Amino acid sequence: MDSLLVIDDNASLCEMLKLQLEESEGDRPGFQVETAGSAAEARARLAAIQPAFVLCDMRLPDGDGVDLLPELKVLAGDAPIVIMTAHADMETTIRAMKLGAFDYLQKPFDQDEVELVVLRALDLRRQSRRAAVLAVDTAAPQRVDDIVAESPQMKSIVKQIGKIAASRASVLIQGESGTGKELIARVIHTYSSDVPRPFVGINCSAIVDTLLESELFGHEKGAFTGAAQTKYGKFELAEDGTIFLDEIAEMSLPLQAKLLRVLQEREFERVGGVKRLPLRARIVAATNRDLAAEVRAERFREDLYQRLKVVTLELPALRERPADIPVLVQRLLGRIGDRLGKRVTRVPAELLGHLQALPWHGNVRELENTLTRAVVLAPGEVLVPELFPAIPAEPPVRSVVREESPQQLLSLAEAERRAILAAIAHTGGHKGRTCEILQISRPTLERKLQKYGLEVGEASRPTPPARPTRSAG
Ligand SMILES: Nc1ncnc2c1ncn2[C@@H]1O[C@H](COP(=O)(O)OP(=O)(O)OP(=O)(O)O)[C@@H](O)[C@H]1O
Ligand SMILES: [Mg+2]
Repeated sequence: MDSLLVIDDNASLCEMLKLQLEESEGDRPGFQVETAGSAAEARARLAAIQPAFVLCDMRLPDGDGVDLLPELKVLAGDAPIVIMTAHADMETTIRAMKLGAFDYLQKPFDQDEVELVVLRALDLRRQSRRAAVLAVDTAAPQRVDDIVAESPQMKSIVKQIGKIAASRASVLIQGESGTGKELIARVIHTYSSDVPRPFVGINCSAIVDTLLESELFGHEKGAFTGAAQTKYGKFELAEDGTIFLDEIAEMSLPLQAKLLRVLQEREFERVGGVKRLPLRARIVAATNRDLAAEVRAERFREDLYQRLKVVTLELPALRERPADIPVLVQRLLGRIGDRLGKRVTRVPAELLGHLQALPWHGNVRELENTLTRAVVLAPGEVLVPELFPAIPAEPPVRSVVREESPQQLLSLAEAERRAILAAIAHTGGHKGRTCEILQISRPTLERKLQKYGLEVGEASRPTPPARPTRSAG
């Protein structure tokens, strides 16, 4: 529950506001209402709480509300300050507004007037926070349809997302680089709530340790050299949305200990601050390492691992699910087309066969990069294998015919023969895996090998293609 602070020496007015605002009203949530009877008391309260907004009387026993304003603004962070004026003292009111008060209530006021100003104050706070989040996250919400899931492995992942989204449990997503960890995290986020909430991501490997701590938890003005302003941390900005801790395995052990404490207590402090702020966001963490192995190697805390992995998703490498490649290629070509303003839509089956046979160490991201390069270079709207440096120029196994013209059109039989050759080359002659890639049965493979006069055996087993070197661009 958010708190708010009422500063007024009139105890019965404080009590009345407390009664009204502790109850929820329509869409407005109830608050934990704190009161202070003087400027000194207000300072003390603000050292301990982070109110959603402040209602402040203009005449206090130990000072003038207007004089207190600049200090209040610092102490209350981004909480809007509403002043309460006893009489139509317009001049003071204007002075207060100039000093940064958000609004004013003229005494005596009724409950409706209070409701109105409270709603406006909450709206302002929400908007200014949203702006801070939007400054870092401009991505459109990702939906389940954005995930290509033709393979049984990905279908199972999508099914799990449905169940996960309904809960608020922490999620750990593991998978090689480029397998779609962030995409999955965003989809989980989208389905976690009916109303839009912030998704705040942070890459734990990209920032040095001391900075990471203040990025996560924020810092108070003057907490360290260079901390000129109070800064909201990602945990604060994420509100009741999702915080995505990317590359969590790269976090240092001391920071892991701090994160663990935050997860246990569901509370945190800004660096250099004493206020306890509530942790309301859902945690989704991702890593391309095997976190259990990191725990065994004592590079990752066991207790933190246990907290994070309440739900675990293992994203399969792209080479283990060639069935996803044809639709992925179409989907990615659409996206690349939008971006480059250049349509390349036709992908010959032969080429798909080759693409399904490549090892894709960088997974979907590498596929996307490779396709982008090919689209840029493509002379027309058809993609051909020659646009892909990783595809061998000629079939590596018992090549009989060398192509005269690389772009000549293929017969269906020739396309099939080449798809088989590419798959054999990729698997090093392993028939079982060749069948998986080609998505045909073993007897069908045997029949086709015979048809095309291909031999696959220990003796003729070619070496698998080397990991493709990525060319610039
Ligand atoms: N199943 C999928 N369907 C559609 N697009 C996908 C799929 N998986 C990944 N992508 C796309 O591939 C790209 C890489 O995905 P993402 O950034 O989520 O991967 P990652 O695992 O977080 O990678 P890294 O470890 O490099 O950070 C993105 O453009 C994403 O949209
Ligand atoms: Mg990522």
